[in-house]
Amino acid sequence: MSLVLGIETSCDETGVALVRDGRLLIDAVASSVDEHARFGGVVPEVASRAHLEAMVPTIERACAGAGVRLADLDAIAVTSGPGLVGALTVGVAAAKALALGLGVPLFGVNHLAAHVAVDTLDHGPLPEPTMALLVSGGHSSLLLVEDVTSTVTPLGRTIDDAAGEAFDKIARLLGLPFPGGPHIDRAAAEAVAERGEGVRSAIAFPRGLTSGRDLERHRYDVSFSGLKTSVARWVERREDAGERVDVPAVAASFQEAVVDVLTRKAVLACREQGVDTLLIGGGVAANSRLRALALERCADSGIRLRVPRPALCTDNGAMVAALGSLLVAAGRAPSELGLGVDSAMPVTAVRS
Ligand code: KG4
Ligand code: ZN
Repeated sequence: MSLVLGIETSCDETGVALVRDGRLLIDAVASSVDEHARFGGVVPEVASRAHLEAMVPTIERACAGAGVRLADLDAIAVTSGPGLVGALTVGVAAAKALALGLGVPLFGVNHLAAHVAVDTLDHGPLPEPTMALLVSGGHSSLLLVEDVTSTVTPLGRTIDDAAGEAFDKIARLLGLPFPGGPHIDRAAAEAVAERGEGVRSAIAFPRGLTSGRDLERHRYDVSFSGLKTSVARWVERREDAGERVDVPAVAASFQEAVVDVLTRKAVLACREQGVDTLLIGGGVAANSRLRALALERCADSGIRLRVPRPALCTDNGAMVAALGSLLVAAGRAPSELGLGVDSAMPVTAVRS
């Protein structure tokens, strides 16, 4: 029996969760997203201060909600990278204090590996290997996961913007609030409900790195900067002509371009690498069209699709506790108490 407390503070969510033997007891999240909304992006200093204020109350809320005392904990897991330095530092300092005070092991874990590990809470042990498509505000990567507690190999990544970043920038351009992903998702769904599925191809936006030499050279990489420019030009042309911008149609067509590329590349990687399970994680995995199209394309190719429930796709403490629990179960060595943060921690390092 092991009870692991997980702490996540890499960006703007203060997440604290408890996992007992691979089962999620509670997932407490305090978000500072509203404080960043007027800036149109996460402000690191504001995020760090919000983590400081939220840390102790969120730990208390998690323990009280699960009926657990700190003295019951067997291990502490914390995101040590990648992410914002100041934000990570708050979580790591809290985790060290708890581990030292309670005399339990401390595991500094990789945020990206944690986005993969969280799915075990919903769908049980991960088949080995599993292909993971990680799409968030800061990352878009295709990973070959041989063992999420030790061996993760990057196959592809974005060569410019992350998928979530593209959603957020286009939302801003369309006058939708931050973070933009959920708003684009909703606007697109409403457009489809009102006008039919054809609205997804109302505007022909480009699919980067999907053909010819680009595809050869960047087989599993993605790119969203060309798409972003194309959407911006389209909107500008309408505005210059004094025309109304059809926001729902732009949202639906833009979203379709993003999820088309992501699912094509992920399925290609599974087929070429002989992997029959695809896992999609990270904030953008909450996108309803990405989930639906991935399901369709995976079914066509005989690939099993795993996507955590939307609340576990965005940043949270459960993902960290889940990876911590797997590390404990696999008998992996804990981190040193001198553990530091690594804002650019490579995905090949599952823990530090
Ligand atoms: O994983 P996450 O919570 O934080 C990072 O590690 O970055 O991802 C946040 C990103 C934001 O860019 C947000 O717009 C995007 O995930 N996102 C979505 C949806 N929900 C969140 N993007 C598209 N559709 C959604 N439903
Ligand atoms: Zn994340």
